Amino acid sequence: MDLNSIMDMTDKYTMNVFSRTPVCFTHGQGICLWDTEGKKYVDFLAGIAVSVLGHAHPRLVKAISDQAQRLIHCSNLYYIENQARLAKLLVENTCADKVFFANSGAEANEGAIKLARIYFKKKGMPQKYKIITLVNSFHGRTLATTAATGQVKYQEPYTPLTPGFLSVPINDMDALVKALDENTCAIMLEPIQGESGVNPLTAEYMRGIRELCDEKGLLMILDEVQTGMGRTGELFAYMHYGIEPDIFTTAKGLGNGVPIGALCAKDSVARAFQPGDHGSTFGGNPLSCAAGLAVMETLLEENLVKNSREMGSYLMEKLSLLKDRYGLISQVRGLGLMVGIEFTGELGVKVKELLLARGYLVGSVGKSVIRLLPPLIVSKDDIDGFISAFDAVLGELSEQQEEPAQN
Ligand SMILES: Cc1ncc(COP(=O)(O)O)c(C=O)c1O
Repeated sequence: MDLNSIMDMTDKYTMNVFSRTPVCFTHGQGICLWDTEGKKYVDFLAGIAVSVLGHAHPRLVKAISDQAQRLIHCSNLYYIENQARLAKLLVENTCADKVFFANSGAEANEGAIKLARIYFKKKGMPQKYKIITLVNSFHGRTLATTAATGQVKYQEPYTPLTPGFLSVPINDMDALVKALDENTCAIMLEPIQGESGVNPLTAEYMRGIRELCDEKGLLMILDEVQTGMGRTGELFAYMHYGIEPDIFTTAKGLGNGVPIGALCAKDSVARAFQPGDHGSTFGGNPLSCAAGLAVMETLLEENLVKNSREMGSYLMEKLSLLKDRYGLISQVRGLGLMVGIEFTGELGVKVKELLLARGYLVGSVGKSVIRLLPPLIVSKDDIDGFISAFDAVLGELSEQQEEPAQN
């Protein structure tokens, strides 16, 4: 089908919730994608931090093809070997003792919220239900995760919101302490806020929250849906700060595009869930866990977390040179391969479009930020290619800005 027919059919038959770029990909390989017109793109967005192994990774393709031929689904009424093996791998490589598998990031977060509440109910403290989150956070699109998300634009159309959430400005310990009361049960946050433009929390703040939670008997919940699976140069971002959350969630990169989310917790907390307290029809099925296993094993065996760290530093270094060369960039921020570039003016969408025309995919956030989330297999050559395209785009934009206004 040609692009116009696909776009017409999409507009006619699907709900109009996405602002889509007029491109449709037919296939991918490694860090590249091809569209219906045969044009090649280099993927510096990875489906919004999902395709950590790039596209059509042979190990993942084999794992899901083999599993699909044997058994795709059987329900959690029975034992599932891949689920047990993936949970073991997550536990052995993180601070968690127990895992529950969901189908998405929002669902994993929904599970985290439920776990925090039931934990205190079962401790005989039903009054502890409030969760403090952060302004400009993003935790998902379900009703509870929308209430947890500290952005009015996502909440306003769906009021009344699920009660029990309050958000405070990031990196402000005083505001956080002031927001606590005897009903607070947990603090929930992303180590780096992805959807609002790659805003990292300081190490001091992260450690301060851990101490505060210990002191007040609160649960620290980290949403690592985007920062997890090696994205920031550690397997999970909390590992940068020398702290351990009580609960963390992950999704996106875990299945490299096969839908799966994970709610991970310390045993003392996870024990609050007993049969019937939570569940999922699809969560943890043999197919999605085969994908998760192939992704985790490849990340670990092929040292892709180290590559994320090293390529992240290389990318940052090259971007700072461009920041110094042109007056168009006000800040480059992030960790590992999660990078945000803020422009001095409202150039985000324009830069994204100009890069697209040159065959590079990046994401824009709001009016003045673009974000880069390349697959963790990215190489120096790939980064050099991106930097020269970005250099050309910035050159083009500076010339335009220097041209005298015509009247
Ligand atoms: C930090 C964070 N949490 C949760 C979500 C929601 O994940 P999903 O879209 O898989 O439900 C996202 C998605 O962007 C995210 O970045």
